[in-house]
Amino acid sequence: MNIVVMGLGYVGLVTAACLAELGHDVTGIDIDSNRIHLLKEGQMPIYEPGLRELVSKNNIEGRLNFSNSLDENLDKALLIFLAVGTPSDDNGTPDLSAVYKSIDSLIPFIKSHKVFVVKSTVPIGTNAEIKKYLTKKLKTDFDIVSNPEFLKEGTAVQDFMKPDRIVIGTDNIKVSEIMKELYIHLTRNGHPILVMDPVSAETVKYASNLMLALKVSFINEIAMICDVIGADIRRVREGIISDPRIGAQFLYPSIGYGGSCLPKDVQAVNHLCKEKSINALIPRAVLESNDRQSNWFISKISSWFDKEDIKNKTIAIWGTSFKAGTDDVRESPALRVIEGLLKLNVKLRLYDPIALKNTKKCFADSKFANNIYYATSEMDSVKGTNALIVCTEWLQFRNPNFERLASELKDKVIFDGRNLYDPEKLKLFGLSHVGIGIPVSKVKQNSELRAQS
Ligand SMILES: NC(=O)c1ccc[n+]([C@@H]2O[C@H](COP(=O)([O-])OP(=O)(O)OC[C@H]3O[C@@H](n4cnc5c(N)ncnc54)[C@H](O)[C@@H]3O)[C@@H](O)[C@H]2O)c1
Repeated sequence: MNIVVMGLGYVGLVTAACLAELGHDVTGIDIDSNRIHLLKEGQMPIYEPGLRELVSKNNIEGRLNFSNSLDENLDKALLIFLAVGTPSDDNGTPDLSAVYKSIDSLIPFIKSHKVFVVKSTVPIGTNAEIKKYLTKKLKTDFDIVSNPEFLKEGTAVQDFMKPDRIVIGTDNIKVSEIMKELYIHLTRNGHPILVMDPVSAETVKYASNLMLALKVSFINEIAMICDVIGADIRRVREGIISDPRIGAQFLYPSIGYGGSCLPKDVQAVNHLCKEKSINALIPRAVLESNDRQSNWFISKISSWFDKEDIKNKTIAIWGTSFKAGTDDVRESPALRVIEGLLKLNVKLRLYDPIALKNTKKCFADSKFANNIYYATSEMDSVKGTNALIVCTEWLQFRNPNFERLASELKDKVIFDGRNLYDPEKLKLFGLSHVGIGIPVSKVKQNSELRAQS
């Protein structure tokens, strides 16, 4: 098939590359000319494992091309994927301006029947709104299909190629057959293609993300309870997840969820409920719980030090991306921790294997920019610091050289926002440990022991 993909971000670029890999002729369009320039040069505008190889192979073999403008060639395409961003505004309302702008840019070039595939996550009812909009603006026949995306950053290529399910929202049998033909090769593992009405398809996406956010917030609240009553979340979690009705996925205590999807999608459901006077309690509670989580962690850090003392501290932070495996720092809980500590006048030395470039952009205009040092490695970041905070669960942070850490960290403490370390092991190196829902392990330092005796 001949396919156009509008928007070449985490979803659009992966979609374009994977569809080309399946043998289709794909043109990827983005308004960001720098992004197109990079792609034409064979460079990746985003980090996603396996994507560079896929893009380069399909580009060389002629199935994948990029452009920042549309032309008459657009009319060769049957399917037009809309994969532009849909961020939420300050009130939690999804901003659909990029969706409509991308549609407007297409209209002058459409001369024959097209199927618009809405991949972007859009508020419930948007497919119907777009249909009305296109009916007014287009002179040709068209169809529209909701096709929400469930890939995860960090494993996006693999998720696209081996989806758990493919959701197709349309009332038109002919369109569902076209979409089934497009995706049939991805479902050999037996996972289903689910065809439903467009409103239900839109709702599946929001309900799934609300459930995932709820799981994160649930385990974080249990961890908070453990912290106060002296239980150990690691043991409690083992006990919970052995129940097959509950399972283990997404039940990891942390400093909260982040990224470009869960925060805005939970906000969108909450906004919808307010707008339609639906008295749903969960979206609101999840939002509140997640907002509180990073503040709770910051208060654990600040209460470790004497109140005035924290101002004079220099602290290393490992991990700024919202999770391991991605360079995406949008709504990253690590950034909330960084902001909170900067406000307390703490000096920070940040390290992340992939996301520092994006992190720098976030703090370029901060009045505390001079209090941040961007380190070149884990060990560079801890030089001359008082403590270490782990915010992201990158694999390479799991087995650090504790002996070196113990000699670098003046206050001999690690604040472990992902529960990566065993406090008992840290104790052997004279390091204290403060985790999420794990009893605090405080190792008495020589100065304290001398003072006692
Ligand atoms: N990132 C994820 O993990 C993920 C997963 C599932 C669904 N989604 C949804 O997919 C959509 C895209 O998300 P993303 O993370 O890929 O966004 P993104 O911000 O990474 O990429 C969006 C791209 O669209 C381009 N763009 C904006 N306006 C355009 C226009 N008028 N014409 C052409 N290109 C335009 C931007 O320049 C950008 O490159 C969102 O609705 C998001 O909620 C994202």
